Amino acid sequence: MLALLQGAETKEMDTRLIKIKEYSQAQLANETTGHDYYHALRVAKAADAIIAAENDTTVDGLVVSAAAFLHDIVDDKVAQDVVQAQKDLKDFLKTLTFTAVQLDLLEECIYQTSFSYELDHPANELSSTAKVFQDADRLDALGAVGIMRTAYFGGAHKDPLYDPKRLPKKLLSKADYRAESTVITHFYEKLFLLPELMNTAYGRSEGQRRKEFMEGFLAEFFQEWPEQF
Ligand code: ADP
Ligand code: NI
Repeated sequence: MLALLQGAETKEMDTRLIKIKEYSQAQLANETTGHDYYHALRVAKAADAIIAAENDTTVDGLVVSAAAFLHDIVDDKVAQDVVQAQKDLKDFLKTLTFTAVQLDLLEECIYQTSFSYELDHPANELSSTAKVFQDADRLDALGAVGIMRTAYFGGAHKDPLYDPKRLPKKLLSKADYRAESTVITHFYEKLFLLPELMNTAYGRSEGQRRKEFMEGFLAEFFQEWPEQF
């Protein structure tokens, strides 16, 4: 127990992580699509919970935390200029003392774990470190926070809240994923698929619990929605 606490303290006090948090907070200061600094913070916390539950010594916990804080900064939903954001991040990471192996793992977490990336690269195999990060990021798409984030994202993109005529589709590519949608169809097209796609036992059970909360919310939603106009 003492060793565990010391480990946790060491990571929190790691100067690399302190600098990464500052960078993340500055870069995400104007983020208004549900990928703000508090999303990063929740992903980092969820990842810590997964790591504590799974006890897999091959996972690099520092890399997972770094990925939680940095992953959305270079995403096309968040960055105005993705190429510039990627270059800036690379330059920033060079100022920290990560090993080449850690940098590779971090890039894997950032660039290869998204739902959209996997649609276009279905055979990609992730490392144990990237699997933990992926589950943590996916948990934040579910539950009460997941509902709010999805509505917020839909509003930012001027998507309709719901249209009974717009039935859920099976998404086959990133282009499909980024095509027009409604907030409610997004639950069926992506969010409800996530618990079964989780890599860890903790991610699966917590994801399932959060999905069930969302199903309860939708039951209320459809009860309030008029049957016909
Ligand atoms: P990934 O990184 O797995 O590709 P995104 O970063 O694109 O996923 O999406 C993260 C969150 O943004 C989703 O969980 C959801 O809350 C919101 N989101 C993404 N696409 C949509 C959409 N079409 N409609 C509503 N919300 C969306
Ligand atoms: Ni994210």
